[in-house]
Amino acid sequence: MKALVLAGGRGTRLRPITHTRAKQLVPVANKPVLDYGLEAIAAAGIREVGIIVSDPREMLQPDHRTGEMVTVLVNSQAEIRAAVGDGAKLGLKVTYIEQEAPLGLAHAVKIAEDFMAGDSFVMYLGDNLIKDGITPFVREFEAEKPDAQILLAKVDRPWEFGVAELEGERVVRLEEKPKAPKSDLALVGVYLFTASIFDAVRAIKPSARGELEITDAIQHLISTKRNVRSHIINGWWKDTGRVEDLLEANRIVLADLQTRIDGKVDDKTVIEGPVQIGAGTVVERAHLRGPLVIGAGARIADSYIGPFSAIADGVQVVKAEIEHSIVLDRSEIRDIPQRIESSLIGRDVVVTASAARPSAHRLMLGDTCRVELS
Ligand code: TTP
Repeated sequence: MKALVLAGGRGTRLRPITHTRAKQLVPVANKPVLDYGLEAIAAAGIREVGIIVSDPREMLQPDHRTGEMVTVLVNSQAEIRAAVGDGAKLGLKVTYIEQEAPLGLAHAVKIAEDFMAGDSFVMYLGDNLIKDGITPFVREFEAEKPDAQILLAKVDRPWEFGVAELEGERVVRLEEKPKAPKSDLALVGVYLFTASIFDAVRAIKPSARGELEITDAIQHLISTKRNVRSHIINGWWKDTGRVEDLLEANRIVLADLQTRIDGKVDDKTVIEGPVQIGAGTVVERAHLRGPLVIGAGARIADSYIGPFSAIADGVQVVKAEIEHSIVLDRSEIRDIPQRIESSLIGRDVVVTASAARPSAHRLMLGDTCRVELS
């Protein structure tokens, strides 16, 4: 049994963060989303993992210091390779598989055929987070030996997902984003396949959006009388493709946090609830209300950090209040009278008050940013 982890894609729903970084590396509770998936794969006893990565692409973006538009080479592939390496630290043996463009989930399967070399495999979407892991799902597949097995979850808005119609545990039909869904059971981003999936991905044609759809490939298995089973998960899962989902994932993971303080906290700071503070971080005259996590080398002074916040390494929060938010590396939040809430703040961002007159909001934002002022 091998694994195929999809870490390419466009990440349009998480722009502008994904202009400069792979969405699979955006942290949830200060750990990249991708790591949760790789850990779940390792926990299921799988060692050989193929990771789908995309080619570098050129982007126009404002220079941090001068504000001029400059061309940068966004290489999320290099970032993923640097973060995961050969997988040894997770007990995995990782092979990278380059996808020339995000041509669909079934296209990613197609280009992995040589790597799989006839083995069965679990396909895991690199931006998905499944709280209880995938081990029972993999064991069931090994015991029952179907041609494919999909993971399903009950959802409130089935028309936004791939939806399955079942007879017992057998899947009889799949529909991508149906107008009139036949069930409320949506496909979760984990699939188990035997080598029969490769005939299916060769047989299908690109959809109207130009992608080879995995739902079409699985539907092809069903139509050719293959045994496609399902497993309904009761635990929490999330596709972290949008900000709201990332914040929810952050909330769910932080809810199980244990206190651990490696940084320095002065005696004027009040700490309530579970809090983690990384090495080299200094906290002064602050109020920390957990669950929350602060990385290493950060500085929090005269500030309030509220529940469900994840503050990355090297961040500075001075005279500000922040709650239910994710702040990425080295950003600075200073002298902000109003509380910042439900926000995702990228790397090296500066949010600060200004004494300059006229008194006004002065913004320097990249493309597709979203700012809500009140
Ligand atoms: P999606 O979230 O469906 O697609 P996307 O990354 O292009 O995002 P958006 O809709 O916001 O533009 O992809 C699910 C996962 O699969 C994600 O981790 C990216 C990955 N992926 C690939 O590796 N190759 C592909 O061709 C596609 C479509 C996705």
